Amino acid sequence: MRFLFLGDVVGRSGRKAVIEALPKLRERYKLDFVVLNGENSAGGFGITEAILEELLDAGADVVTLGNHAFDQKEALVFIERHDRLLRPINYPPGTPGRGAGLFKARTGADVLVINAMGRVFMAELDCPFRAIDRELTACKLKVGADAIFIDFHAEATSEKQALGLFVDGRASAVVGTHTHAPTSDERVLPQGTAFISDAGMCGDYNSVLGMVADEPISRFLTKIARERFEPAQGPVTLSGLAVEIDDATGLATRTKSLRLGGCLEPTEPLFWVE
Ligand SMILES: [Fe+2]
Ligand SMILES: [Fe+2]
Repeated sequence: MRFLFLGDVVGRSGRKAVIEALPKLRERYKLDFVVLNGENSAGGFGITEAILEELLDAGADVVTLGNHAFDQKEALVFIERHDRLLRPINYPPGTPGRGAGLFKARTGADVLVINAMGRVFMAELDCPFRAIDRELTACKLKVGADAIFIDFHAEATSEKQALGLFVDGRASAVVGTHTHAPTSDERVLPQGTAFISDAGMCGDYNSVLGMVADEPISRFLTKIARERFEPAQGPVTLSGLAVEIDDATGLATRTKSLRLGGCLEPTEPLFWVE
């Protein structure tokens, strides 16, 4: 099974690039399952129902979120209508939406996707380790699901590395998101879980986290918020992680970061092009 994850899609330009590229990527790499993080897809903050539907139509099987999940207030309502949209599982009980779901891949395989948020330098949600552990106990790899993907939306590399090793051998892949800068530590962990500390974003990297740099620079200099953050509109780099999974075990055999377009040095999972 071939899985692709794309990191936080930022604003209109990020969205446009993903919508254009995803059908081609699905074809080129014969992708069986695609997850992307959509927490910044609406003007950099949150997601709308129309944008969610565009991303799903373009070929995303599941869209995950993060700390910006509910920046667009309509998400509090429409998230209940969309089972392919996940918000972090460790929000307090009663939060609209769901943090995990079982989905069908093109191959017919059952794929469990979990979205969780870290707590280091972030909001104090419930424990993400225990929340993920409960899901993995209830739906074991190759018992309840053929493959298991976790988007761990967290600031601290330590917390992401700890979670990767905590679930090693029990999930197909753990992909870090939230920092918007791709790391180069992708690998298959000793027990077979593919891992990367951060997948990076789908956006303009000549920016501050995908936003036009002027306002962030001004806030660092003066500590005064003068204007709104606006998504940068320069050439977009699509950034994510490709994972090849052994159908017999549900564990990863190979993984490679994907970076295409824009100003970052490109990488491609060429092992998939026959
Ligand atoms: Fe983000
Ligand atoms: Fe985030």
